[in-house]
Amino acid sequence: MRIAVAGGTGTVGREIVAAVRARGHEAVVMARSTGVDLGTGQGLDAALAGADAVIDASSIGTMSAEESRAFFRTASETLLAGAARAGVGHAVLLSIVGIDRNPHGYYAGKVAQEAVWTQSPVPSTIVRATQFHEFAGQVSGQARLGPIQLAPHARTQPIAAAEVAAHLAGLVEAPAAGRATDIAGPREEDLADMIRAWVRHQGRRGPVIAVSLPGAQMRGMRAGLALPGPDALRLGPTFADWLADRG
Ligand SMILES: NC(=O)c1ccc[n+]([C@@H]2O[C@H](COP(=O)([O-])OP(=O)(O)OC[C@H]3O[C@@H](n4cnc5c(N)ncnc54)[C@H](OP(=O)(O)O)[C@@H]3O)[C@@H](O)[C@H]2O)c1
Repeated sequence: MRIAVAGGTGTVGREIVAAVRARGHEAVVMARSTGVDLGTGQGLDAALAGADAVIDASSIGTMSAEESRAFFRTASETLLAGAARAGVGHAVLLSIVGIDRNPHGYYAGKVAQEAVWTQSPVPSTIVRATQFHEFAGQVSGQARLGPIQLAPHARTQPIAAAEVAAHLAGLVEAPAAGRATDIAGPREEDLADMIRAWVRHQGRRGPVIAVSLPGAQMRGMRAGLALPGPDALRLGPTFADWLADRG
């Protein structure tokens, strides 16, 4: 199959590209840095020409509900319209566990994105995952005050991005399923502990201060609204084993 990956240079997107190639498919990487802009549609038709399927792992780095909604609505409408024009047979969206229980901040955009996808003009599958193990590094990059690392508390049951990618690569080969079973990692963690371990693993010895960030999204995460339900698939290594394997 020829599979186009939106956000194919990102944290999970890179892993998805590797996973679909490992299964013998051709991958087309769609990101602004490869000439495809889901905000404007620039480069999209050329990238999707001949594609059998699309996986959407695009994202915007924001905690603003307004910015997140604007990005995900436009990007989803643009991508799905392009997929329909190209005759794509299956479009798969990566979403996040619990967004409808906690529809604030960045998650407000994910709710808007899913709403667009439920009206998809091409057969589609939406799968929700919990936070990635890599999320610790993503948040630590945004929460540094000079030498001080802030480590926000949040309840999460993280999963390795590579596990998410392998699961998506399998789903995209199957018929469209609408809403698929949620996926999560093996056990609950406190994001603050993950960030501390991540920072130390990087060899940084400075202060790491656990904090409870204001804002509805982070309050919701501390209340456990991003945790998976009992029916979610549990996949891959614990955060500690994943981190140890990174050498
Ligand atoms: N991070 C997590 O813990 C987590 C957990 C569960 C689900 N998810 C979901 O997984 C998806 C990917 O998240 P991520 O953390 O891997 O994202 P990321 O590392 O921030 O990567 C974002 C990707 O989107 C691309 N992109 C951004 N704006 C674009 C535009 N206008 N047009 C085309 N491409 C654009 C970026 O490339 P350019 O900058 O070159 O355009 C990049 O490839 C998101 O839907 C997210 O909600 C994330």
